[in-house]
Amino acid sequence: MSIIIAPSILSADFTQLGEQIRQAVESGADWIHVDVMDGHFVPNISMGPFIVEACRRATDLPLDVHLMIEKPERYLENFISAGADYLTVHIETCPEMDRTLNRIHELGCKAGITLNPATGVEKIEPYLKWADLVLVMTVQPGYSGQTFLSEVLPKISQVRKLINEIKPGVLLEVDGGINPETIRDAYDQGARVFVAASAIYKHPQGIQAGFDSLLERL
Ligand code: DX5
Ligand code: ZN
Repeated sequence: MSIIIAPSILSADFTQLGEQIRQAVESGADWIHVDVMDGHFVPNISMGPFIVEACRRATDLPLDVHLMIEKPERYLENFISAGADYLTVHIETCPEMDRTLNRIHELGCKAGITLNPATGVEKIEPYLKWADLVLVMTVQPGYSGQTFLSEVLPKISQVRKLINEIKPGVLLEVDGGINPETIRDAYDQGARVFVAASAIYKHPQGIQAGFDSLLERL
């Protein structure tokens, strides 16, 4: 199974977002990850559909939109019409996850389920059959630049096992604290999609060097 690297623009320089995306694309990015935060589900506020729409104009790569918001079902249409290719919602905020995933599909988008570090795999298991992607958070959602929580590693392999049993085509993504020191451990547990903000956008030698430093560990 091939590897997907998804730079998160959360650590990009927003005075030149288009250029920062272009550089990530040139470095070999597979997807662009967009972190949406509402100040309720997570303490931070980040960006909304306008930025997704700007990313859409900057690249043809798949846009991987991670909704860290309360009641995400209110905004599915906005993010999908702005250009999302994958829309990922948190199990902690979706009381009717099956309906939400089906709605995302009806709107013509791929659907992801994500879970916080403290949330058990059993919470997502009933919905896996409707998902295209599972995102395992390896930090508390809300900020880039945090330390990878290695206690989440066993959960990555539990999710991998479930995916293999229930729906082998589902992509397994990890997000938070992914850097050259941690990416291999996540890979070894079965992750194949890697989100990275600071390791790519804050690398002292630039975006290409940040991207290469991750790939060379795989
Ligand atoms: C955290 C976000 C992540 C974040 C990752 O809530 O979901 O996507 O941008 O940042 P790094 O890679 O710096 O941990
Ligand atoms: Zn994210």
